[in-house]
Amino acid sequence: MRGPRMDHLRLGIADPDITFPDVLLNQRDTTPSVTNTQAVPISNPTIAPYNTGLNGVNQPNNMLFTDILWWTLGGLGMIILVVRIGQLAWAKLRLVSAMNLKGRQQNFWKIRQWSWMPSLKRSLIYAPLWKKRHNREIQLSSAVNMGTLPSRLQAVVLSVYLGSNIAYMFVLDWQQKNKYALCAEIRGRSGTLSVVNMIPLIIFAGRNNPLIGLLNISFDTYNLLHRWMGRMSVFEVLVHFIAWAVVQVADDGWEGVKHKIVYDRFIGSGTVGVVAMFVILVLSPSPVRHAFYESFLNTHIILALVAFICTWIHCVSATVHGGLPQIPWVLAIFVLWGAERFARVIRLAYANRSSRGYTTATVEPMPGDACRVTMHLPRHIAVKPGQHAYLRFAGLQPWENHPFSIAWFEHKYSPSTLPLYSRSSSTEEKSPPGTKPISTTVSFIIGAHTGFTRQLYNSARSSPLGALTLRAAFEGPYAGHHSFDSYGHVVLFAGATGITHQLSYIRHLINGCNNRTAATRRITLVWIVRDHEVLEWIHPYMEQILCLPSRQEILRIKIFVTRPKTAMSLNVLSTSGTVQKLPGRPNVVTLLAKEQDEQMGAMVVSVCGPGGLGDDVRGAVRGLQGQGTVVDFVEESFTW
Ligand SMILES: Cc1cc2nc3c(=O)[nH]c(=O)nc-3n(C[C@H](O)[C@H](O)[C@H](O)COP(=O)(O)OP(=O)(O)OC[C@H]3O[C@@H](n4cnc5c(N)ncnc54)[C@H](O)[C@@H]3O)c2cc1C
Ligand SMILES: NC(=O)c1ccc[n+]([C@@H]2O[C@H](COP(=O)([O-])OP(=O)(O)OC[C@H]3O[C@@H](n4cnc5c(N)ncnc54)[C@H](OP(=O)(O)O)[C@@H]3O)[C@@H](O)[C@H]2O)c1
Repeated sequence: MRGPRMDHLRLGIADPDITFPDVLLNQRDTTPSVTNTQAVPISNPTIAPYNTGLNGVNQPNNMLFTDILWWTLGGLGMIILVVRIGQLAWAKLRLVSAMNLKGRQQNFWKIRQWSWMPSLKRSLIYAPLWKKRHNREIQLSSAVNMGTLPSRLQAVVLSVYLGSNIAYMFVLDWQQKNKYALCAEIRGRSGTLSVVNMIPLIIFAGRNNPLIGLLNISFDTYNLLHRWMGRMSVFEVLVHFIAWAVVQVADDGWEGVKHKIVYDRFIGSGTVGVVAMFVILVLSPSPVRHAFYESFLNTHIILALVAFICTWIHCVSATVHGGLPQIPWVLAIFVLWGAERFARVIRLAYANRSSRGYTTATVEPMPGDACRVTMHLPRHIAVKPGQHAYLRFAGLQPWENHPFSIAWFEHKYSPSTLPLYSRSSSTEEKSPPGTKPISTTVSFIIGAHTGFTRQLYNSARSSPLGALTLRAAFEGPYAGHHSFDSYGHVVLFAGATGITHQLSYIRHLINGCNNRTAATRRITLVWIVRDHEVLEWIHPYMEQILCLPSRQEILRIKIFVTRPKTAMSLNVLSTSGTVQKLPGRPNVVTLLAKEQDEQMGAMVVSVCGPGGLGDDVRGAVRGLQGQGTVVDFVEESFTW
């Protein structure tokens, strides 16, 4: 049990006597702060005590709201975890019961089990904030990108979180006659909440956040939460600063403010931290972030570090016995940040160095302003469908690292060095009998934008050998938490380079169907590209996929070419008629309605590509809800 002594420690109060401001008040009026190097001006006894320490601060309430905030986050996490466990158990049950059945025999899983589920999916889980727009960026011009809108569910979570933060700041002693005492209460509350928010803020910023896999919430959603918690934390720290400054100005004028900022370590560090956080806010709006992403990122990290260091100095230099009670939280921030960075270093060191040497990459320029990158990792790395990695290349801004989906991978085995795909009956993860995996090659398709990706493309194109070979580093693999193995019917939409994400599922699911480890009996791939020439990007991988056993029964491919430079050639690319090339954009609604007519078991629709395509597919999937069959939706997107 927690005793009264423990409570006082937690509240940052050394002795029960000094919970009464008057006692402290007398102390402060006569004793200059230890950190002051100049004489403290004579203070007004009804104002001065309220500009420092915990005088007037309602610490029990601050701790109460801190606890409520933790419980809100923890409770939300627990609810999501329970739902996640339920989903996993349901998917496992579906997989085990359907993996040996033909597509038409999976009717039990095709029909919805709960009457309320379709409307929940349509109105909340898959719903955009308003009518249709979610991931299509709001662009004022080609250069000014205002970002995207959250989904309805994300908006609900954000509103609860932000609304509760604001509400907690208003639970004050409004009967308090002394407005400076009220300011002190506001200062304590806002400062406490700001530091509390910094902890989830730092957890959600990390790509190695264990909650991504545990709760099956994408890094993209955590990034959204990170941005909003950051805004809230800055807002609160500004309120904290203003509430202090009002009292300080009343007590000793602006000269007193300046004096404290310059000579008082407690106030000086706090002020520098506030300025750093304010600059982060000014530099973070979407147009700035998108236009100068790398500069934004580096400045953001440096300023965040300054803000955290200053918060720590601020907490330890307070004239409160043992420092402010937020010290352990600030330490937790450093530990969490350090652990995340350390995890990145470990991943990098592990994947790219072994007794077989270092990672090298072959970069081939491709038509349609893209590169095909094949990385030869010196050790075996297990890869799952839907995973991505962060890449670095020697000589090409090596301090930058960018995420790319793993389009293809092959393991080499000892004693045989034959790549896995030539062993048609094996799954990707299993070693053939009598062998062990020794190394892995991973392939990516990288579209050239204006920064690092353009430089990579230009270097590959100017290489006299037609391809570039250079030292590189692979950090990952990350994500891959969506398994489609339990679905009888899988529909994959890809826009241009979005094919990388979808391709990784196809071989896995066809092999799974052949080995009876997946329930999938029908896969439809819809790939939308600007020109025919980009088919070259995945030509070697598609050749292998088209040769897999049962491929013709399982896989349908529809390639839509929206802006061909030359006239459209033959529109049926395979003798079986299962690979088609069509002009223009697809009619997503009609296409999905046809898939639903032919649905085998439970169906999942996945999309990866431009935001507009994602929004169209999302809208069409919502339209399919209520038709009596199970249709799930998974969007792979990223909105930095
Ligand atoms: C999980 C994931 C997987 C991806 N997979 C692929 C893929 O397989 N193939 C592919 O071509 N692209 C993929 N992308 C997009 C790719 O990461 C960006 O296009 C690339 O980082 C842009 O680099 P750049 O310097 O040329 O960008 P710029 O020309 O400077 O900017 C272009 C756009 O990319 C964004 N961007 C810039 N730097 C980064 C960064 N470090 N991380 C994320 N976005 C950034 C900017 O906000 C801007 O909107 C993926 C993105 C994510 C998040
Ligand atoms: N794992 C991931 O998160 C991941 C992986 C790979 C790529 N990506 C992202 O995917 C995006 C792909 O961009 P890109 O530059 O490669 O593609 P792009 O060149 O912009 O074009 C994609 C194709 O999609 C079509 N298209 C666009 N909107 C559509 C819609 N609403 N309905 C139907 N077709 C539509 C375009 O048709 P028009 O010619 O008519 O415009 C074009 O043919 C990038 O944002 C990239 O970051 C993400």
